Amino acid sequence: MSQSQTQDDNSQNTLDPNWCSDALDLGLDYGMQTVAVRAGQHRTDEGEHSEPIFTTSSYVYQSAADAAAHFNGTKTGNVYSRHTNPSVRTFERRLAALEKGERAVATASGMGAILTMCLAYLKAGDHLLAANQLFGSSIGLFNNYVAKFGVEVSYVDCFNNEAWANAIQPNTKVIYCESPSNPLAQICDLGYLSQLCKANDILLVVDNCFATPALQRPLELGADVVIHSATKYLDGQGRVLGGALVGSDTLMQEAFTVVRSGGISMSPFNAWVFTKGLETLKLRMQAHCQNANQVAEFLVNHPNVSTVHFSGVSDHPAHELAGRQHHMKDGYGAIMGFEVKPSSNLDEKSAAWHVIDSTRMVSITNNLGDAKTTMTHPATTTHFRLTPEARAEAGVKDGLIRLSVGLEDVDDIIKDLARGLDSL
Ligand SMILES: Cc1ncc(COP(=O)(O)O)c(C=O)c1O
Repeated sequence: MSQSQTQDDNSQNTLDPNWCSDALDLGLDYGMQTVAVRAGQHRTDEGEHSEPIFTTSSYVYQSAADAAAHFNGTKTGNVYSRHTNPSVRTFERRLAALEKGERAVATASGMGAILTMCLAYLKAGDHLLAANQLFGSSIGLFNNYVAKFGVEVSYVDCFNNEAWANAIQPNTKVIYCESPSNPLAQICDLGYLSQLCKANDILLVVDNCFATPALQRPLELGADVVIHSATKYLDGQGRVLGGALVGSDTLMQEAFTVVRSGGISMSPFNAWVFTKGLETLKLRMQAHCQNANQVAEFLVNHPNVSTVHFSGVSDHPAHELAGRQHHMKDGYGAIMGFEVKPSSNLDEKSAAWHVIDSTRMVSITNNLGDAKTTMTHPATTTHFRLTPEARAEAGVKDGLIRLSVGLEDVDDIIKDLARGLDSL
């Protein structure tokens, strides 16, 4: 045995053995809302109705021989919560069922899921081709760390199919995108990208954080792996951090090994919050989208707004594509960017800050996907650490505000935005 292979590393090298063993497993005939409420639950002998939280780091064995059997692989079962935990499994199973994937692997955060993706599917000499519009930390991870380990990274205009095709290299192993993207809510043509990837033996990895399975299921559109920051809509109330990958058994096997070896595991409490969050996901997303459509209409018609980045706007270049890709009627998501015009005495940045500082209800915070409407100025917060060139590449201008439309009365959200916009 090499030094890097300890006994602990050898245990549970295969995916969670308890994945499909409970009687509450749901077949594919159930509707999405039924799946969201019931899939993945493992009822214990106590007969509890709601999903319990298993706050345990380790698990006991019947005997020394039983322990040895768990470690040498002749017996399967829980060993340690960095590897598997029943509460985490329930969340993974419910999310996998909603995304229509074979498996899900939960992680400590969304960035943990993206790091897991890189460690599982890329190695030195490979090329990662990513969309130019991404969450700032994803770009930071790729440029500052993934590249450090010998992976080539490049970016393309996410809405330009020809650019994607032209940017493929013989060593391209992963195409990575968000759809809708952060912060400009741009849409990628996932059907096209999937064909491109299949023809070139490339994995298509899609961050589905802004759409969630309530709006869009990338695996059905041909993606290989779906990424989530569960921190956002899967929780929906801004309480805990978490992430996940969803895909085939084979791809999730690689992700699982990275997560348990690297300790990127989700906490059981957080998994329980997400499991309960999934029960209302579709209903919340319907309400989020309805509010967002009305807020976008207000912004489009406001004289002090130059651009609204939201595919729900009928003349947005990706309006038709988003309508096709999203399976919820009128569901374009609830995150949008809008650019504030400079005024006679305020430049773009100051005008955007004026709009933000004039709100009384909307929360000034960088999180999103919350019941509470949140807003941020990406150029000085989420995308601040990027170089000016990388910020320009991501389309993050000084007048841009990112808005995550919440579940308050829509008239109150609009009134709060109007306060600053009207007084510019
Ligand atoms: C699209 C997207 N992906 C991933 C992440 C990272 O998720 P987390 O903050 O849970 O690590 C974020 C965070 O805002 C995000 O917006």
